[in-house]
Amino acid sequence: MLSAEIRELAARRRAVILAHNYCRGEIQDVADFTGDSLELARKAVEVEADVIVFCGVYFMAETAKILNPSRTVLIPDPSAGCPMADMVTAEQLRELKARHPGAKAVCYVNSTAEVKAECDICVTSGNAEKVMATFPPEQEILFVPDRHLGGHIAGMLGREYTLWPGYCPTHAALTVKAIEDARRMHPGAPVLVHPECARDVRAAADERLSTGGMCRYARESSAREIVVGTETGILHRLRKENPGKSFYPASERLVCPNMKKNTLENLRDALRDMKTEVTVPDEIAERARRAIAAMLAVG
Ligand code: 13P
Ligand code: SF4
Repeated sequence: MLSAEIRELAARRRAVILAHNYCRGEIQDVADFTGDSLELARKAVEVEADVIVFCGVYFMAETAKILNPSRTVLIPDPSAGCPMADMVTAEQLRELKARHPGAKAVCYVNSTAEVKAECDICVTSGNAEKVMATFPPEQEILFVPDRHLGGHIAGMLGREYTLWPGYCPTHAALTVKAIEDARRMHPGAPVLVHPECARDVRAAADERLSTGGMCRYARESSAREIVVGTETGILHRLRKENPGKSFYPASERLVCPNMKKNTLENLRDALRDMKTEVTVPDEIAERARRAIAAMLAVG
């Protein structure tokens, strides 16, 4: 059985397996810890094991390496990228900053290490509002790469940011029509969506939450049925943790092909062959760490 082999290899390698909420159910089940980007970043700081195997997408493994550089960080499939993270380059951001002297540059954690190195602070969907509230209202902000998360936070705080036109192709598949259909099929069920969704979709939902926020909501809400507007991998965790409640995807099309590149087979291979190691050049890591540490200091 692959899961047993993985646990044996993890013990032999003194490895901890971290998995994002969007991973396949079998990966979540074999992992030591499953969480959202913020929870996983915090976990990465604490890891005392020699090896971190990161089942997620590349920027998440890179963030773990930046935060805990003395550990060996492995990713089962290094081609598991985040297309949104690749929608802005460090050079493009430098050009934008040059056109806006005095502005603060803020990146969503879904960005490359090179982009983080150019930023004053980083945010995740779990702490973006709290982090952005630390800026005085008059501070000019450049927000990259997700125009939807940036627009959501600007709206919540009543501010205006210069938004980079990046977006998540997976969450772009969720439409207002799909939410209306889900409400007809599950009357009374609250509809949760991720802030990476488009503005009209966010407005059509009841709550806009990070994946960790959705897990907390599911635990604490008295609702017995909940419609979930994010990547469908999270349904495994929601159902496992809340056996008495029902969770319905707002759309079956919300699948992140990169998250699905993590399989039991390549996780086993990663531990067996100690591959593929994630590295970040020191100079980039040091500057990127400042932006991530500034975020973690806020909460
Ligand atoms: P969370 O931090 O909410 O888990 O989101 C990560 C992500 O990539 C969403 O698409
Ligand atoms: Fe990137 Fe979207 Fe996949 Fe999240 S769901 S990792 S933002 S492509």
